[in-house]
Amino acid sequence: MAGDRVRLGLLGCGVVGSATARILVENAHEIESRSGVPVELARVAIRDTSKKRDAFVSPGLVTDDPWDVVKDPSIDLVVEVIGGIEPARDLVLAAIGSGKHVVTANKELLANEASTVMKAASKAGVKVLFEASVAGGTPIVRPMTESLAGDRVRRIMGILNGTTNFVLTRMSESGESFADALAEAAERGYTELDPSADIEGHDAAAKLAILASIAFDAAVVSGDVGCEGIANVTARDMAAAHDLGYEIKLLAVAERHGDEVAARVHPAMMPRTHPLASVRNELNAIFVEAEHAGELMFLGRGAGGPATASAIVGDIVEIVRDRGAPAAYPGAAALERRARIQPAGDVASRYYVVLSVADRPGVLASVAGAFARHGVSIASVRQEGFGDEATLVLITHSASEAQHAATFSELETLEPVRRLRSRMRVLGTAEV
Ligand SMILES: NC(=O)c1ccc[n+]([C@@H]2O[C@H](COP(=O)([O-])OP(=O)(O)OC[C@H]3O[C@@H](n4cnc5c(N)ncnc54)[C@H](OP(=O)(O)O)[C@@H]3O)[C@@H](O)[C@H]2O)c1
Repeated sequence: MAGDRVRLGLLGCGVVGSATARILVENAHEIESRSGVPVELARVAIRDTSKKRDAFVSPGLVTDDPWDVVKDPSIDLVVEVIGGIEPARDLVLAAIGSGKHVVTANKELLANEASTVMKAASKAGVKVLFEASVAGGTPIVRPMTESLAGDRVRRIMGILNGTTNFVLTRMSESGESFADALAEAAERGYTELDPSADIEGHDAAAKLAILASIAFDAAVVSGDVGCEGIANVTARDMAAAHDLGYEIKLLAVAERHGDEVAARVHPAMMPRTHPLASVRNELNAIFVEAEHAGELMFLGRGAGGPATASAIVGDIVEIVRDRGAPAAYPGAAALERRARIQPAGDVASRYYVVLSVADRPGVLASVAGAFARHGVSIASVRQEGFGDEATLVLITHSASEAQHAATFSELETLEPVRRLRSRMRVLGTAEV
């Protein structure tokens, strides 16, 4: 990257790639003045050359062979917005191997192969930046790697998937069922063709793995993140949450415990007073608790072409501006090491529990006994309804997942308990 301009190759020109091309053309003046040299979109690889592209991509730049771009010695920097692991991984590694810097929005690649990619980048002396891979246009990777580099992050708690946040917001504000809210999200174009990665929490888990790796200086991969989706959240759970002054959110949580990292994605009740509880619709937010900086919140658009492309172009400008400086990504060496993951059973939470019970004397003592036998203490309990409709609504104090699981198993066998109707973790209280 020594010349009087930087030549850029774009791998993929779909939702994010075409928005990136647009910003490169429309903001060329700002980009040049902030980077020091013009940034020229020199090649664009796509899959289907018969698709109509917008005017920001001139037909002469387009190829259906991404290797044309990666092998072109005149390209200085490659932007990978194809997505998925292959062929993106091989293309990114080849680009790095031939001395090109890389910007990527690919959460799947980074949440599974960050150590391979970062090792290759360190060896080749090039930068790989990936702000857009987590929370789209919301800056979080750079604040974590740079602004908080001198601090110690204790916990990250995020709303990292816009589709599920939209669904839960509709359920909360309109009393809709999960199925109706999901149908509404689809009508508005907020869902993928197959929404399961969003609904089951895997999309948020990949983003959490990337953030946890940065925060805790060791690679956390998607498979390290325990995952539970929102398909079982009911309108009744939502109403119960409101009665308690809570909202239900799909939370991605990573924390450090000694030399172990715990990372999980699951629906949770949280007090309405918590900053994340007020994050509505398709927005994303990340709440960071750092030892010295204290509590910080980052809020913005987690997806969409323009927002994601804004983060990509920010990374491009950083690389071009700093050309000539030592190239390694600040946390690269740490990402070459795998994190020690806390066993899922050891992770501590509070739980909200609803039991359908027989309505007769002694039931409460019998239920309380089951909690006590597994060391789970009850913070509050109330009985609702009577006769066949009798239910107990309990909230526990913090105890491990293993203790809670053992309690739930015993409750299901207790004679006066007809059904364990609902259970959900409670987070964001003073206790956890
Ligand atoms: N969409 C978002 O809001 C968003 C937000 C944050 C991060 N991201 C990430 O950004 C990346 C791209 O997402 P997207 O929504 O832009 O995807 P997309 O709309 O499906 O675009 C993918 C592009 O890659 C091209 N492509 C696919 N396979 C190819 C191959 N083998 N060789 C060359 N080109 C190939 C496609 O070509 P054709 O155009 O010919 O089909 C298309 O242009 C993904 O990693 C995604 O996770 C997306």
